Amino acid sequence: MFKRVPGTKDILPDESGSWQSIEIAARKIFSLYNYREIRTPLIEEASLFNRTLGETTEIVQKQMFLIHNQEDVYALRPEGTASIVRSYLENNLDKTAGFVKLYYIGPMFRLERPQKGRLRQFHHIGCEAIGSQEPELDVEVIALAEELLKGFSIADYRIKINSLGCPKDKQALTLKLKEALQKNAKELCPDCRVRVNNNVLRVLDCKNETCRKIVGDLKLSESHLCPECKEHFEKVKNGLKNLNISFQVEPYLVRGLDYYNRTVFEISHPELGAQDAIGAGGRYNNLVKELGGPDLGGIGFAFGVERLLLVSKIADNKDKNGLVYLVTLGDAAKNAGLKILNDLRSAGIPCDTDFLDKSLKGALRGANDAAAKYVLILGDDELKKNIITLKNMSTGEQKEVSLQNLTGELKC
Ligand code: HAM
Repeated sequence: MFKRVPGTKDILPDESGSWQSIEIAARKIFSLYNYREIRTPLIEEASLFNRTLGETTEIVQKQMFLIHNQEDVYALRPEGTASIVRSYLENNLDKTAGFVKLYYIGPMFRLERPQKGRLRQFHHIGCEAIGSQEPELDVEVIALAEELLKGFSIADYRIKINSLGCPKDKQALTLKLKEALQKNAKELCPDCRVRVNNNVLRVLDCKNETCRKIVGDLKLSESHLCPECKEHFEKVKNGLKNLNISFQVEPYLVRGLDYYNRTVFEISHPELGAQDAIGAGGRYNNLVKELGGPDLGGIGFAFGVERLLLVSKIADNKDKNGLVYLVTLGDAAKNAGLKILNDLRSAGIPCDTDFLDKSLKGALRGANDAAAKYVLILGDDELKKNIITLKNMSTGEQKEVSLQNLTGELKC
């Protein structure tokens, strides 16, 4: 027997109803904010991610699924932002549309050690607003993230925000940290000892106790921000307050990807344990330029759908379609039944029958399992009289209906 690849998941029909509910809610809310869907390929040139996420990031160093094809190296996309900015430029949206609001829903791939809430194929619901540097956009994007959480019936989340500043500020913070942490380098965990030299910001969100203590003693603040970045961050915080969005400024929040600058944010949920981030995002004002485009800002975020579903109370999308289940007794009725099903479907009524030649009792059990709203029972005798028995499964009420009137009866 074959098994699924570790870190992947089969989404079975009992679960797919909740996935649909989340996706339906997301599309509705994105359109309220005037976002339009973009679908990019699942594979990209690997160098797109090396360049934008950063050579020293964990994703690029050890988590990319690579496909070697002669001279080319492709990667299964580990995230959506780089692909979307690539697509924005390749399709000249910078020239034709300028400022765009895009959303996406789909699978991402990271070769991680699987655990609860950490998969190798997982799904993002995310968005990117490209072409503006305005702090008001940061506010709207975070407000949109909160609105989505409400739409997903998720409560008790925490929104943490920080500003990394412009590339110069980020560089200053990096140097300051390097200098401070080199003194304690021996006490850091083995991973952070490496990070001090090649990706020091990542030391800030290491989960190791000793690293946390050392970092905590650094007493970080917003002091690395230049006046413009400070002002931008103030406007973001004031805008969020104005919309009554609760947030916490978290000076240790740096995010793992190189493309971020200025506002970054993360949304966590206490019920999730070690992998508690349900979503995250931030600004990437240099990314469009880095990929060969004009000097345009951008901001976005992505939620991990598997993690959303662990904390969501959203109702399953099933049972709402009012399924009609036909039970036939006898060969003539079985034959006529196919035509009845065809007519009902043409009238937009969802219906099904049992294809296992079960007894009446067994077929009725099948109707129950399928959560049918109505059951139709047709025997050869009824067929001769041109009637059918209609049973309402929630009230138990049963009546005979003429076959000609069946569609009308079910539609009202
Ligand atoms: P990220 O923080 O790497 O950001 O991923 C966003 C969310 O995806 C995480 O908060 C988490 O919920 C989920 N996630 C990440 N890795 C896994 C995994 N292995 N298994 C299950 N869920 C996972 C980004 O990817 C950025 N592109 C977000 C962004 C959009 N920033 C700006 N625009």
